[in-house]
Parts: sequence; C-alpha cells; structure tokens
Amino acid sequence: MFTKNDKIGFIVVEFPKAAEIFKKYQIDFCCGGDRPLDIALTEQKLDADEVLQQLNSAYNEYQQLNAVVSNNWLQASLADLVDYIVVTHHKYLDANLPGISELTLKILRVHGGRHQELGKVHKLFNVLRTELEEHLITEETILFPLIKQYEQDSDHKHAEQLKQLIQTIENEHEAAGDIIKELRAITGGFTPPEDACTSYKLTYKRIEELESDLFQHIHLENNILHPRVKESI
Ligand SMILES: [Fe+2]
Ligand SMILES: [Fe+2]
Repeated sequence: MFTKNDKIGFIVVEFPKAAEIFKKYQIDFCCGGDRPLDIALTEQKLDADEVLQQLNSAYNEYQQLNAVVSNNWLQASLADLVDYIVVTHHKYLDANLPGISELTLKILRVHGGRHQELGKVHKLFNVLRTELEEHLITEETILFPLIKQYEQDSDHKHAEQLKQLIQTIENEHEAAGDIIKELRAITGGFTPPEDACTSYKLTYKRIEELESDLFQHIHLENNILHPRVKESI
C-alpha cells in the first residue's frame, strides 16, 4: 500500500505501472520524482483519496498477478542498464526527433496563419530537439562510459567528476521537462483544433508519444541509474 507521504519516484520504481496513473493526472514523476506524492496532489488540486485508491487497487492487482515482484533494474549491472537506455530510449529519440521537427515546420507553413500556437510549437520543439541531441551525446560519450568504467574499477579519482556530471545531466532533464510542459500547455494537452488536417493531428500525437518515452527515459536515469551510481561513490 502506498501513502501520500511516499515519494513519487519511489512509487514508480516499486510499481512501474503507476506511471500511467500519474500521467493521467499530469503528476510529474521524472523531474518531480523526489517529492512526496502529497505535494503534487495539493499543487494540482487533486482528490488525494481518489488518486490513492486508484493507485493502490492497481498495485494490489499487480501484486496478485506477480506473486514475486521483481524489478530488474534495481539488480541488473549498471552497464546493462546504461545499454538498455541507449538501445531503447536514445535510439527512439534519434529515430523520431528529425521527423517530428519536419512536421512542426510543415504544419506551421500551412496552418500558422490561422493557428498562432504553431509558431511556438515549431520553435519550442526545435529547442528541445537541439538540447536533447547534445544531451544524448554527453551521456553516450562521457557519462555512460565513465559509469561503466567506475563499475569495473571504483577509482575515486573519477568520483567527483561523476557527481558533477550527474548534477549537470539532471539540470538538463529538468530543462527538457519544462519545454515539454510548455508544449503541452500551449497545445491544450496536445489537442488538435476541430479543423486540423492529418499532419496537424499526427504532429501532436507524435509529440505526445515522445513525451511518454521521455518521461520513462528520465525516470530510469534520475530515479534508478543516478541514485545507484551515487550510492556506490
Ligand atoms: Fe538518456
Ligand atoms: Fe538523460
């Protein structure tokens, strides 16, 4: 049973499907994962009993289905976790950022005159794209190799560098999370207008999918990978 005093990140680590419930209520579980659930409930003016009841009934169901609840990422090697993040989430971004970026330009060109928000969508998405592309390079070429090296040989001369890098990376996660939140806000929760064409609808749908993937991605890094690295330092 979870209570409102449990931290949001802890709940998602223990019970990954909680992410779906948090998404439904727009409770930030990646960058805001370090806060007790209570704070988010108050901030979002949500009914605490209703959210907790949904969370705990889904959790009970999950526990019954999985008599042995195991979370691989808490036990797997850091190298395996890092490789999983790259082949799943980094590959996803590499494959989707350019196409979505093109779509934001296409719908701006065709519908920008009648739909003012499309200028902002195009600008914000491209800032997000540039920041994420640089971010992935930093992780793949500096942070992740350092984590793998540190797991093999915990030489303390890398400890300080690792701590600082993790801090920088988490700040970048927060910045990316802020851009996605702004995109969600200016598009009314990625709701296309009545007269939207297929490209318009597709663009919003694909940005929303990217949001989901990014939240899972940042969750794995902020709430599992980084704490495990910091614990070992
Ligand atoms: Fe990453
Ligand atoms: Fe990251």
